[in-house]
Amino acid sequence: PNSDDFVVVANRLPVDLETPTDGGPPVWRRSPGGLVTAMETVLRSNSGAWVGWPGTPDVTVDPFEEDGLSLYPVELSSQEVEEYYEGFSNDTLWPLYHDALIPPTFDRRWWRTYRAVNQRFAEAAARAAAPGATVWVHDYQLQLVPRMLRELRPDVTIGFFLHIPFPPTELFLQLPWRKAIVDGLLGADLVGFHLPGGAQNFLYLANRLFGLPAPRGTSSGGTIVLGDRQVRVGAYPISIDSAQLRERSRDTAVQERAAEIRRDLGDPEVMLLGVDRLDYTKGIDVRLEALHELFAEGTLDPEKVVMVQLATPSRERLTAYAQLRDQVEREVGRINGEFARLGSPVVHYLHASVDRDELLAMYTGADVMLVTPLRDGMNLVAKEYIACHPDGSGSLVLSEFAGAAAELRRALLVNPHDLEGVKRAIVEAIEEDPAERKKRMKTMHAHVMEYDVARWSRTFLEDLRATSGAHVTAS
Ligand code: UDP
Ligand code: G6P
Repeated sequence: PNSDDFVVVANRLPVDLETPTDGGPPVWRRSPGGLVTAMETVLRSNSGAWVGWPGTPDVTVDPFEEDGLSLYPVELSSQEVEEYYEGFSNDTLWPLYHDALIPPTFDRRWWRTYRAVNQRFAEAAARAAAPGATVWVHDYQLQLVPRMLRELRPDVTIGFFLHIPFPPTELFLQLPWRKAIVDGLLGADLVGFHLPGGAQNFLYLANRLFGLPAPRGTSSGGTIVLGDRQVRVGAYPISIDSAQLRERSRDTAVQERAAEIRRDLGDPEVMLLGVDRLDYTKGIDVRLEALHELFAEGTLDPEKVVMVQLATPSRERLTAYAQLRDQVEREVGRINGEFARLGSPVVHYLHASVDRDELLAMYTGADVMLVTPLRDGMNLVAKEYIACHPDGSGSLVLSEFAGAAAELRRALLVNPHDLEGVKRAIVEAIEEDPAERKKRMKTMHAHVMEYDVARWSRTFLEDLRATSGAHVTAS
């Protein structure tokens, strides 16, 4: 394809090339995670190019067009997948940026590979971008790309957005390569985070590590002056395609499927739902533990309450993920072993990824959505559930440690470390006065409809263009 005026750079392409276990030919599937959900919507309405890895090691795929998007695959060898993706990205940065829920591993070889792969992404982006293009780089896997790309292409405007939490400064400072990472990000014209706290932490680090002058700004962000350039830093809470989800969830086929799911579950009085990548940050174990205790104490009746947990496979070769899977599956087995009757499990557990309509039917059918991460950048699942309940039905139990909690203040907010509190919130979600519950849901629905993903990207891109156009005048 020709070069583009708008280029998205992310570790993964919106589609993954997967080789079926039965030895059949590889097939393209939608890539997992919230980044793809959000950016796919943005690119479809802007048109442009997407630079990313096709999800399988050691395959060369030529650039191709898909549904009006130009896709530029970046090849990774199996060693690079181990060291850059599984290693540095997901065994160093991911745990470090999520409150060090498991100890991050610091490995110099992984770091060198991370740098080399970031350079390759920067080169691919430089090739894809037309003169003066806007390039939007995404997430923790590619934090060095803004600086590298600026060296290659000083003519382009560069935005960076972090989709996961930015850590407390004392955790970030543990990174042996902390200076290089901050420097990498400072190559962008605009660095965006979900929450003001992340932007503040980043500004503090830029000041502390580089002695940069204290930024001009407000509590939610600021501007750093770097020679004749400005770097703007701010908070941009990501969202979903709210109107589209609401409409789709009203579709007759989705409604019928929702009713059918409830019938298949044995027409329970209460259907609880969890939807997560199988990740230790998501607190799946927390909600199962709470449920187990509620049944064991007799607070909830297993003949009336069922839970569905959809756990999407993720990063399966990493030990922490394999261990979490074992733990979750043991707990599901324990609850069913103790409280199920023949033919009617209490917890229905799916280790799978389902398509959009099936997911919408699950959201629509569920009485209570359980979102209990120990730490989460935003959590789009919480917003998707709200969008699918325009009539004010349903109830949301939401962890204070998800970015979404900053906006969804009327959810039943919980501290996932406080098991008694989680249990109380689940009971409250089930027993709350219907009028009160409806008020909460309607308020949150109105918020999610107003602050959708189109608004998020518009705000980010407007700020980006304003920053890159602003020249610093000597005072
Ligand atoms: N999702 C999906 N199919 C599934 C499970 C999840 O398409 O079977 C989507 C879900 O709709 C949401 C995204 O995956 O858009 C998960 O995003 P979230 O921000 O909640 O978490 P992440 O996985 O990015 O940590
Ligand atoms: C989160 C990250 C994304 C990532 C997604 C799926 O949403 O912010 O960058 O793509 O999880 O994880 P994976 O490792 O499979 O790409």
